[in-house]
Amino acid sequence: MTERIKQISEAFGAKISGAETLGDLNNIKIKYLGKNGEVTELLKNLKNCLAEERPIIGKKINELRQRIENSINEREKNLAEKAKLKKLEEEEIDVTLSLAHKDTTGALHPLTITKNMFINIFAGMGFEVKEGPEIELDYYNFQLLNIPADHPSRDMQDTFYITDKILLRTQTSAVQARVMLEEKPPIRIICPGKVFRADDDATHSPMFHQMEGLVIDEKDKVTLGDLKGCLDEFARKFFGEDSRIRLRPSYFPFTEPSVEMDVSCFMCKGKGCRLCKNTGWIEILGAGIVNPIVLDNCGIDSKKYSGYAFGIGIERCAMLKFGIPDIRILFENDIRFLRQYK
Ligand code: DAH
Repeated sequence: MTERIKQISEAFGAKISGAETLGDLNNIKIKYLGKNGEVTELLKNLKNCLAEERPIIGKKINELRQRIENSINEREKNLAEKAKLKKLEEEEIDVTLSLAHKDTTGALHPLTITKNMFINIFAGMGFEVKEGPEIELDYYNFQLLNIPADHPSRDMQDTFYITDKILLRTQTSAVQARVMLEEKPPIRIICPGKVFRADDDATHSPMFHQMEGLVIDEKDKVTLGDLKGCLDEFARKFFGEDSRIRLRPSYFPFTEPSVEMDVSCFMCKGKGCRLCKNTGWIEILGAGIVNPIVLDNCGIDSKKYSGYAFGIGIERCAMLKFGIPDIRILFENDIRFLRQYK
């Protein structure tokens, strides 16, 4: 028995140092420690030994077993480490290699470009950026803005309701109300953001973006003339220095008087073309003098203060500026479309 133990020990030594892979190692493990392995056999044969020899031989077998286990574990660690280094070497990346597709950096989305241009233009006129929630209360989106529950103008804006009091805001005008309730005049803010309406075709998307503007100051400091000056500056900066604007009478419940602003067609310079439907003008935004009812609703004394407001559609301006024919292209995120805006 002792002789056999010695033999196994020596044979194992030779085998283990020759093991080059985890597979080899597994085979060795089975050969010695498996159910019919050589060491297992020794243990089974222990019962044939003389009773007085059994404890000594048993101890030797156990020591052998322990040694084999330890060696296998150690070798296993060794081989795993080697395999990892080999893999790292094989997968080494040559950072000096030139790329077949250099076109992998991103670009800003045309809506982000447009929004950033708006912000820059109005920041240059002293406006501060404010944000409000997209999930809004009827109270801020409609009621405070002089659009009571039964008001027909609600039909102009097909609303996504969550409950009868909570909705997806239909207009960034909701932020006006929030800011007026929180701050004292003078107020000079723009509020860019997402708005939602149940509307879906080539020029309407159920989710789109607007930018609201609001200026409030002492009564004679903010007039329709100031509004026009501000919008004129915006149009020239965004559509080109030779752009002109015109205001047409309109109706919004939160402004009185209300206007719609057209910009002279920057494609035909006012001569008439497909873009401006031969009128020479393109409708851009709604605006007006803040209705005193709205000021009072929002805790601002309409006898002391007045203001002007405007709301610009960001998609509409982006589509005009970049010649995008269908609003849905803006939300498909087709890489061939987006790549053009690098
Ligand atoms: N909220 C209006 C809309 O979504 C746009 C608008 C018009 C905003 C006139 C204003 C405004 O602040 O004065 O159609």
